[in-house]
Amino acid sequence: MTMWNPLVASDAEPKYQALFAALQRDVEAGVLPPGTRLPTQRDLAQRLGVAIGTVGRAYAAAEQRGIVSGEVGRGTFVRGPEPGVEEGAMEEDDPEVIDLSKSRLVRDPRVGSVASLLQTIAHRPDLDRLMDFYQPATGMARHREMGARWVRRAGLTVPADRVIITSGAQHGAATVLASLAKPGDLVLTEHVTYTGVKAIASLLHLQLRGLPLDGQGLIPEAFEAACRDLAPRALYCMPTLHNPTAGTMPLGRRQALADIAARYDVALIEDDVYGFLPDQPLPPLTALAPANSYYITSTSKSMAPGLRVGYVIAPESRVDRVAGVIRASTWLIAPLLAELASEWIEHGEADAMVAWKREETSARHAAALRILGRWLPDATPRSFHLWLPLPEPWRTEEFVTQARARQVVVSPSEEFVVGRESAPHAVRVCLGATASRARLEEGLERLAELLESGPAPSLSGY
Ligand SMILES: Cc1ncc(COP(=O)(O)O)c(C=O)c1O
Repeated sequence: MTMWNPLVASDAEPKYQALFAALQRDVEAGVLPPGTRLPTQRDLAQRLGVAIGTVGRAYAAAEQRGIVSGEVGRGTFVRGPEPGVEEGAMEEDDPEVIDLSKSRLVRDPRVGSVASLLQTIAHRPDLDRLMDFYQPATGMARHREMGARWVRRAGLTVPADRVIITSGAQHGAATVLASLAKPGDLVLTEHVTYTGVKAIASLLHLQLRGLPLDGQGLIPEAFEAACRDLAPRALYCMPTLHNPTAGTMPLGRRQALADIAARYDVALIEDDVYGFLPDQPLPPLTALAPANSYYITSTSKSMAPGLRVGYVIAPESRVDRVAGVIRASTWLIAPLLAELASEWIEHGEADAMVAWKREETSARHAAALRILGRWLPDATPRSFHLWLPLPEPWRTEEFVTQARARQVVVSPSEEFVVGRESAPHAVRVCLGATASRARLEEGLERLAELLESGPAPSLSGY
């Protein structure tokens, strides 16, 4: 075991982060070569005059980052430069392939260590309550309150008794749709939409109809005509950082949709999983039409997808109905997970994660503008994903295939189109899909080369 003496300023805050930074620095500088066994947490804590938990959090952050590995009973060791370590467990199966098809963003391992979260709540005297009872299907009061607090940051102020805890946004959307529509009912969406909602429609035997979009999002006149002629049950949409186009509806557009929905008594289902990204969020549709809107968000994009906690805000009169679907399908969502999310929300970890994600998204967006800017629309928004319109003479399928031949995976527009409508010539490129920015940039460079060189001649059809 090494006698490691990290340099940590006595006034550094938070201490565990300063210690993590010192560890990272010393590993990179070779002061701690691969294979070195680090001091025990107790030993280092005593020498530095800090709590054992502080050292534990620093080591946990380093472990998540792939800098060290902990082995039960043996200690914590500095890892060697194995291929793929930096990319972490979520990286592509094939290290040659740069997969930009997943809508996610890695998280900062220095913030929100799961190990320290579990340690923190481990000492709570009321922990057994989370396990020993069937809690209400809407979720526990504290978790609903934390949900109300979380959605406030997206500009939605609601009482906690309108909040329903779900197992992520996908489950939230399925639950809301099951509470509203019966087999055969028509649900409207944007012309290109989140693929998950197509899966839900298929599961619940609902019909979907995609409505046209312009530069500001869903066109109100098209929505009104559909409400008038087709008697839809609901409109599912993503007003902020739409998936896949990354567009955000301006306020006037939101107001117009809210007015039409109220006039025709059509439910609005607003999926706002990316609503934490803009610095100044616009009012959600649910704030404009509270009597017939359902707001859905989750901790997946803002914190961590494995947490599986979602928040649905339902109209007051429909909360029981939504809770009934949860009861019928799973009784209630495991309260322990909602407790973990609540802990992060209450104690600021969630805010820190969001701050990091915004910063990281900005940096990745800037890289995308630098590398692909020539081919992107002027106001391409800062988002986890880009919508890349393909210039003449590219066809989407051709571009996706030739990108794949250069070991880059992007999503064709067809994946997002509703029904058999024709798809725009475009692909979705996820900026958060790789663990490192360098790898993202490499993938984007390969796409830029491809756009530059144009499609390879094809003999198909002869
Ligand atoms: C628009 C949208 N809604 C919902 C989800 C699913 O979120 P969750 O992981 O919370 O189920 C995603 C995931 O990609 C998404 O892009």
